[in-house]
Amino acid sequence: MARPDFNLLKNDFPMLQKKMHGKPLIYFDSAATAQKPQVVIDAITDFYQNHYGTVHRAVYELAVYSTQAYQTARQKIKDFLNASKVEEIIFTRGTTESINMVAYSFGKAFVKPNDEILITAMEHHSNIVPWQMLCEERGAILKVAPINERGELIIEEFQKLLNPKTKLVAITHISNSLGTINPIKQIVKMAHQAGAKVLVDGAQSAPHIPIDVQDLDVDFFVFSGHKMFGPTGIGILYGKEKLLDLMPPYQGGGDMIETVTFPKSTYNVLPLKFEAGTPMIAEVIGLGVAIDYISNIGLESIQLREHELLDYASNKLKQINGLHIIGTSENKGALISFTVDGVHPLDIGTMLDLKGIAVRTGHHCAQPVMRFFNADKGTVRISFAFYNTIEEIDIFTNALIEIIAKLRN
Ligand SMILES: Cc1ncc(COP(=O)(O)O)c(C=O)c1O
Repeated sequence: MARPDFNLLKNDFPMLQKKMHGKPLIYFDSAATAQKPQVVIDAITDFYQNHYGTVHRAVYELAVYSTQAYQTARQKIKDFLNASKVEEIIFTRGTTESINMVAYSFGKAFVKPNDEILITAMEHHSNIVPWQMLCEERGAILKVAPINERGELIIEEFQKLLNPKTKLVAITHISNSLGTINPIKQIVKMAHQAGAKVLVDGAQSAPHIPIDVQDLDVDFFVFSGHKMFGPTGIGILYGKEKLLDLMPPYQGGGDMIETVTFPKSTYNVLPLKFEAGTPMIAEVIGLGVAIDYISNIGLESIQLREHELLDYASNKLKQINGLHIIGTSENKGALISFTVDGVHPLDIGTMLDLKGIAVRTGHHCAQPVMRFFNADKGTVRISFAFYNTIEEIDIFTNALIEIIAKLRN
């Protein structure tokens, strides 16, 4: 696939044409949520204006159209992840709901007292708290694999924590607070050898690097539509069919049943077993279009482009006195967390905003990571998507240098 002109792609995003505080918006917070291309906005508007109807439940033309569009999107997501069957793609509200769904349903089917769930010290709260809740509920034990000073998982320690009681390993693919890319294939192999299943939190990887769930051999893979240039309120749970078949439904209601009688109901087949109630139809269709949009650019090209942005920005930031990059793994996604001696991250974020530059400040839903690095006030985080440019990084670093000088005076 030919490499696109990335400097032009920004034009596809209406929000990126806006001014903030009179300055052209520089959006460096795509790890929190990504901006939407016009094609996604148009697809959602078109659906509501011209085709809107429910799915699965009626024979009239609008419902047939909606059902087809909904199922086509599921097929696109199956292809995007290289899953083997559409039945393995479950629509949820986002990464958080996907993880909670697995914690509840896998937990109910497979987790007994004294079993262990293994996570890592670099997880987002969404990949910590649902497992704590499960462990409390089932009398299981939560184990945490440590990280080193570069923010990398210590593989030998991870290996030591695996044992026959480990039922599930839940690990992020790319850390949202450090940028670390975890060696998922190796981790899955090790976990499977110990008899454990693996859930990968792909919230920060699916929009940025090619994903092949069969090649990775993951048991569950989850991500959010809104970080993938799609709408909010839609996410994906990929699960191996054999496992999903053995897991009970997460919620009861319409669509997830086969028959309902007062003494007992029977449940629908996959994927509908896990999709109770009228789903997020417009959001699913919007996500399908977002997947088309990024697939047309090509994830290999996106990965290369974002790596250029990461390298360029890292080199510039390293030259700033008193600035410390938190998360210095060899293998990193396109985000940089940093602290600056004597300056509060919140002040940097507020002053950058006045210059039209949107960055994230705080603990990034990863308080244990902040504690590990003694970043009690949190960090400043800049995170890129393919629509960012070298020129934006130059404007940002100049602004940052000026702000630090002002705040130190
Ligand atoms: C690594 C990681 N996991 C989980 C989540 C939660 O995603 P959502 O809020 O879309 O459910 C995020 C969001 O920031 C994330 O970065």
